[in-house]
Amino acid sequence: MAGEMSILGSAILALLLAGYLGQQYLPPPKPRVIGLDLGTTFCSVGVFHPGVGEVEVIEDEEGRKSIPSVVSFTHTEVHAGYEGQELSDGNPHNTIYDAKRFIGKVFEPEDLERESARYPFKVAYNNGSAEFMVSTNQTFAVSPEFIGSRLLLKMRRMAESRLGVPVLKAVISVPADFDERQRNYTIRAANLAGMDVLRVINEPTAAAMAYGLHKVDVSNVLVVDLGGGTLDVSLLNKQGGMFLTRAMAGNNKLGGQDFNQRLLQHVVERVRQQYGVPPTRKEDVQLLRQAVEAAKLNLTLQPSVLLQVPLHLETGVPGSLTLFREPITRELFEELNADLFRKILDPVRTVLAEGQLAKEEVDEVVLVGGSTRIPCIRRLIAQFFGKDPNTSVDPDLAVVTGVAIQAGIMGGSWPLQVSALEIPNRHLRKTNFS
Ligand SMILES: *[C@@H]1O[C@H](CO)[C@@H](O)[C@H](O)[C@H]1NC(C)=O
Ligand SMILES: *[C@@H]1O[C@H](CO)[C@@H](O)[C@H](O)[C@H]1NC(C)=O
Ligand SMILES: *[C@@H]1O[C@H](CO)[C@@H](O)[C@H](O)[C@H]1NC(C)=O
Ligand SMILES: *[C@@H]1O[C@H](CO)[C@@H](O)[C@H](O)[C@H]1NC(C)=O
Ligand SMILES: *[C@@H]1O[C@H](CO)[C@@H](O)[C@H](O)[C@H]1NC(C)=O
Repeated sequence: MAGEMSILGSAILALLLAGYLGQQYLPPPKPRVIGLDLGTTFCSVGVFHPGVGEVEVIEDEEGRKSIPSVVSFTHTEVHAGYEGQELSDGNPHNTIYDAKRFIGKVFEPEDLERESARYPFKVAYNNGSAEFMVSTNQTFAVSPEFIGSRLLLKMRRMAESRLGVPVLKAVISVPADFDERQRNYTIRAANLAGMDVLRVINEPTAAAMAYGLHKVDVSNVLVVDLGGGTLDVSLLNKQGGMFLTRAMAGNNKLGGQDFNQRLLQHVVERVRQQYGVPPTRKEDVQLLRQAVEAAKLNLTLQPSVLLQVPLHLETGVPGSLTLFREPITRELFEELNADLFRKILDPVRTVLAEGQLAKEEVDEVVLVGGSTRIPCIRRLIAQFFGKDPNTSVDPDLAVVTGVAIQAGIMGGSWPLQVSALEIPNRHLRKTNFS
């Protein structure tokens, strides 16, 4: 009896060993679950490669790691991403962006009238939901989730062409303050793009995972997400290896665009001082706007830049060009925006108060969103907490990196078979400072 048992035991052991060795020496399987970051202005897709244990953010045909969240409709086709954005000037009424602001949200008709006035396309009311009116050969309504699905489909195709296998499953991130309905409609967008959603995770949790904070011993993580137009601050608490969102606050009218606007006002004033007339032509203002954006980006790396813009000012000879040249220092940029930069700390203080936490009790600070590259903002946050924030991951790719890690876990390619890394939020209120 004991002998039989031990023969059986060795057989099982041999099988297990064979399986183990097989796993060791076979090439690692291709990832089949992708991680999707469907952002308000940009989207990205990533996968976790089990062999090397690394995330790859997938590039489009031109090597770009994110695509604009823009979908444009023409007579014959629907164009998503850069293709859609390129059509926006010539086809503004049928080029939809910012759809994420509308997905799954319940509106009153008056809200949507107000929203519609802010966009070149028409936003209509349909039984509590928003929809976009598109007029090509015919006029039709498209839902925010349909717009989302075209972006997700584009990213699914990018992943399939990179991996060489069909992709039918995904993990997707959403803002931490999305309610159940907004989450459901985001899932619907993925379903419309032919994918099953294995899990929906909060963007700040994803960002924390991008820094490997799910694997290390931390309890309190503060995530600051500062993008083009909004600031979101979340306080995460790790309990038994899982993240729980403790508090959220933000400012939905603070971001990179506001910093550009301050610099633009200054530059317009400098033109007026130098030439006696302000730039009034639309093209001139547009060129200045672009120059200001470029200058802002350069100032994150350099202490000063020289702005050079040819303007059609209404001075002297009609049709002649004036070359406006103006040096801009980082110091000046910081001065022009000092009050806006300081406002970033308001929601930080709020989440700490709501989470009943002293700033010294925050173990890690994670920065997300392009505007957190601004050195002065990093400095303000570092000074406030008395420690350096985590910035080694590209702030535009932190969310997709974390979602891809979660996708790897769901796909079973993670060394430890952890299945859940997030505790669903109870209904949390988000304080807004705008
Ligand atoms: C719209 O017009 C194009 C040609 O301009 C045609 O190919 C297409 O089938 C039309 N679509 C519809 C839905 O009528
Ligand atoms: C309108 O919305 C309500 C609640 O979401 C739903 O029960 C109803 O079926 C909808 N009506 C139409 C015509 O879609
Ligand atoms: C979301 O979807 C789930 C599952 O399909 C459903 O049970 C739930 O009622 C939905 N919630 C809302 C608010 O739409
Ligand atoms: C910013 O830097 C890029 C390349 O580094 C350069 O081409 C561009 O002219 C710079 N812009 C300004 C406003 O200095
Ligand atoms: C960033 O996160 C890692 C955890 O992965 C941690 O070890 C590191 O000290 C953190 N802080 C900074 C400032 O990089």
